[in-house]
This record gives sequence, structure tokens and C-alpha cells, in this order.
Amino acid sequence: MQKFDFHQIPAPLLSWYRENKRALPWRENPTPYRVWVSEIMLQQTRVEAVKEYYLRFMQTLPTVWDLAECEEEKLLKLWEGLGYYSRVRNMQKAAKIIVSMYAGEFPRSYEDLTSLPGIGSYTAGAIASIAYGQPVAAVDGNVFRVASRLEENPTPISDPKYRKYLESTLSAVYPKNGEECSAFTQSIFELGALICKPQSPDCHLCPLKGICRANQKGTQGDFPVMPIKKPKRIEEVYVFVIETPSGICIRRREQGVLRGLNEFPSHVAIEGETPENILNGWGMYEFKEINRRKYRHIFTHIRWEMTCIRIRTDSAPFDAYTLDEINEFISLPTAFRQCMGILQE
Ligand code: ADE
Repeated sequence: MQKFDFHQIPAPLLSWYRENKRALPWRENPTPYRVWVSEIMLQQTRVEAVKEYYLRFMQTLPTVWDLAECEEEKLLKLWEGLGYYSRVRNMQKAAKIIVSMYAGEFPRSYEDLTSLPGIGSYTAGAIASIAYGQPVAAVDGNVFRVASRLEENPTPISDPKYRKYLESTLSAVYPKNGEECSAFTQSIFELGALICKPQSPDCHLCPLKGICRANQKGTQGDFPVMPIKKPKRIEEVYVFVIETPSGICIRRREQGVLRGLNEFPSHVAIEGETPENILNGWGMYEFKEINRRKYRHIFTHIRWEMTCIRIRTDSAPFDAYTLDEINEFISLPTAFRQCMGILQE
């Protein structure tokens, strides 16, 4: 691959960014805490979906001290529906360290930042550049897409050497002033989101169209080179929406995906096991099935084929909550919350 000169990109990209950037809540008053929360939310979640979560999170937990002290269930409820709950768990661990070891002040150095739970090179780069104006790149999917098209780089984005190469190559061309460092990081995200889109990029509007090799050759669709995906493991899962006189049963998951989070009592079916066997295994013998419905939920490595069964019983060996309590206080991952549809039949 012929060497590409990334020094060519900051000037046109910065002027384009100033004209075209979106007004996003985390772009106002970009303190390290605000940048951190937004970047963690934006990993794996779309900008439009994040906005509302972000505003509510900031209103409820406006400082790193509030996050460090927040009660777990309340924190999970704020995150409910965003998925990948380890993100918010790690955030709270990091917040506790920032409060206890750094007197509540975010560390300034990239090395100290990456030593915190859940903060890898991407998040550290985003905080260092956007909040502190340091010349440090933050390589996410947008950046891989833009950069790989610019130089027609055939390396799969899963190759850790490719990430390191981009981090150092891009960091080396950062502007000299802090405000521009902050804008440069965000300008690549923005180009990736608005112009250099995964499908049908709007190259005619791109400030880098004159220097982009993929645009010149019409090979945009070949970049970035994605890793070959392994097929997902399929699990057949029974989920029981158990209605008792005191409410609907919820328990904490002790194993598997979503470990540590709330669920309607569920069980991954082993060959030949019936719903009745499962309920008997929980010490339940007297119950009546009301209705059942199939649901599906896709995780990163697993696909759940769910059979959700609504039953009524006089007593069950789980805590029970009213619908109002479940809606207001109980955090329930989307895989299970969708099963509440069964109550409407
Ligand atoms: N994607 C990742 N980080 C982002 C940011 N700060 N703004 C917009 N999109 C993003």
C-alpha cells in the first residue's frame, strides 16, 4: 500500500466541521465527566438513541461524586435499554477510584486514564482530546471507516496493529491548539456519521473527496475490511412471567449473559426438558398457564429463541413486584422487558 499523508486532512476537515457539526448535548460544556459519559454511551449505541439517556443521566448524576455514590439499582435503571451493562458497572468502579484516588478530578494523562476500569485507548483518546485539548486520536468505527477509505487500507479493523497504527498516525497530525484538537477528534466522528457512511456515502459532499483513494477508484464499498463474523450460538430459553397475589416475580440472574441483572425467572432449555419440569425444579407444583408467546433477542455472540409463558400461582419462591414498581424502580434488560407484552393478551 502506498503511503498516505494524513497531514492533508485536518485543515479541510476542521472547516467542514465548523459549518456542519450537529448540536449534541455532550458538545456543550465538554468537561471530562460529560465527555466520558457520552463516549461510553455512544459505544455500541446510536447518537439519536443516546441523546435522551444522556440528558436524563446528567440530570440525575451531574458529577462524578454522584455517580460514585449512586445506588446500584438506580444506576441500572438509568441504563435500562442501552444494553452492555458492564459499561455502566465499570463506570461506577472508575468513578469511585476518581473520587478516592484523584479527589474527584479526572486524571489528565492518557496513561492514568487508561488505567481506569472500562477506559481503553478509544475513550482515553476522546477524553484527552475533546475535554483537555490534547493531541491524541480516538479511533472508533467511524475513524476506521474514514481512514481506511482515504488510503484504501486492506487491514481488517479487528487487527490490533491496525488500531495502534491509526492511533499513532493520526495523533501525529493533530493540530497544535487545544480547541482544534477537540474539534479534530469530533470532526472525524462527524464525517463518518454524516458523509462517510457505511452504506452509500455522500462523497460529492465530502471535504476530503479530492484526496480520498476510495472515492477516486470507486472502492468505498470495499472499506473498511471487516473481520469474518462467527455465527451466533442459539439458545432455547424458557421465560416465566409468574403472577402471584403480591405481584410479578423477578429475580437476579446468577449465570450466563446478563449475569447480575434482573430477569423474569428463566432457564436455558436442555434437550427434553419441559416447562413443567423447570417449574417443579423451582419447587412449584400448583400453577396455571394463561398464555405463551415466542420472542427473540440477539446478543453479541448468542441468539435467544425465547418461549415466554405466563402463569398464575398462589405462591412462588421469588420476590414479586407490582407493575408500577417494575416500571418505576426495577431495571429489566430489554430481552426480558419485551416479555411484558404477554400481559396484554
Ligand atoms: N460517536 C462517538 N463519539 C461521538 C461523539 N462525541 N459525537 C458524535 N458521534 C460520536
